[in-house]
Amino acid sequence: MIRTKLTERYGIERPFVSAGMGFIATPALAAAVSNAGGLGQLANGAAPPEVLRKLITATRALTGRPFAVNFIIETTAFGPLATDAHLRVCIEERVPAVVFHWAPPPVEWVRMLKDAGCDVWLQTSSITTAQAATASGVDIVIAQGGEAGGHVRGTTGLFTLLPRMVDAVRPAPVIAAGGIADGRGMAAALCLGAAGVCVGTRLIATVESNAHDEYKRRITEATEEDIVRTCIFGPEWPDGPMRVIRNRVVREWEGNDTKTPPQPNPPQIIGKTMLGGREYLMPKFAAILPTPETTGDFEEMCLAAGESAALVTTIGSAPAIVQTIAREAEQILEQQRAAVASMRSK
Ligand SMILES: Cc1cc2nc3c(=O)[nH]c(=O)nc-3n(C[C@H](O)[C@H](O)[C@H](O)COP(=O)(O)O)c2cc1C
Repeated sequence: MIRTKLTERYGIERPFVSAGMGFIATPALAAAVSNAGGLGQLANGAAPPEVLRKLITATRALTGRPFAVNFIIETTAFGPLATDAHLRVCIEERVPAVVFHWAPPPVEWVRMLKDAGCDVWLQTSSITTAQAATASGVDIVIAQGGEAGGHVRGTTGLFTLLPRMVDAVRPAPVIAAGGIADGRGMAAALCLGAAGVCVGTRLIATVESNAHDEYKRRITEATEEDIVRTCIFGPEWPDGPMRVIRNRVVREWEGNDTKTPPQPNPPQIIGKTMLGGREYLMPKFAAILPTPETTGDFEEMCLAAGESAALVTTIGSAPAIVQTIAREAEQILEQQRAAVASMRSK
């Protein structure tokens, strides 16, 4: 069993956190990871506060173990994705940890959550942002390497970013995100000083994830050469750099992809999906990820995934994946310790 500041703080068995992935990390995935001894993240995505409460209740119905709620701090076509009202729901529901991404939370939010006994985490790629956040009371930092899937601000790879972050925010625990899809990655992250890992792309290709089957299939087929960083997606959230699987629309705009292109005239609909119980007609370049309700042209859709998609070849069950990755990491760390001991005894 690997014990770290993360496992001790939340009384969990494995220093494994599932990424809060909008549209994908719904109650089934978050609960499955928590039930497997990790810490599941429930993604709020673009859900309004009353829907968030239902999602938390649904997660609680599937697990009695701790889980975290994830918010993106950004104003999109759906309005601000995190508001005072969302945080009040987390406080009322006694969620043990709230995780923010993209922008750091205002100090008043940090205070409000911590006064209510709720831990505050920030996912960032910036050392200075992380230092300011921990100085303002943020408890845990997720260091997001440039290889990570989904919206990704930074370009520095995890092998450089992680030890820098660990040194910069010590004694705050740092969780490693980006490129981790097996026990080797987890062991490496722990050796670089992480208190745990945050895994996204590997968990898209699971039975419990809310990704469309075709999206899952493309994750299992992608190699590292199929994964690119682009800003083309997002009439809903323009110009946000994302790591995605290359498809026709990405290929067509490669080299011209530092901004979201203007909408074609006349408008073009690339598919249909459901958002918050309502039908959503997906405009060209939509940043909405395909879920089981989505229909349309997958060559036009945003298929967010990190470089670690190259390590994913099967669709599995989330608990088995969490347990296998953690067990492999443990074995590797034990082998390394044994190898050093045997060198010393010679
Ligand atoms: C499909 C997808 C959606 C994501 N959505 C979010 C999100 O809503 N909030 C967030 O904090 N991070 C989000 N991320 C980023 C993850 O938190 C994390 O940084 C990333 O998945 C780690 O890299 P990996 O994909 O190589 O495991 C998303 C990532 C993916 C792949």
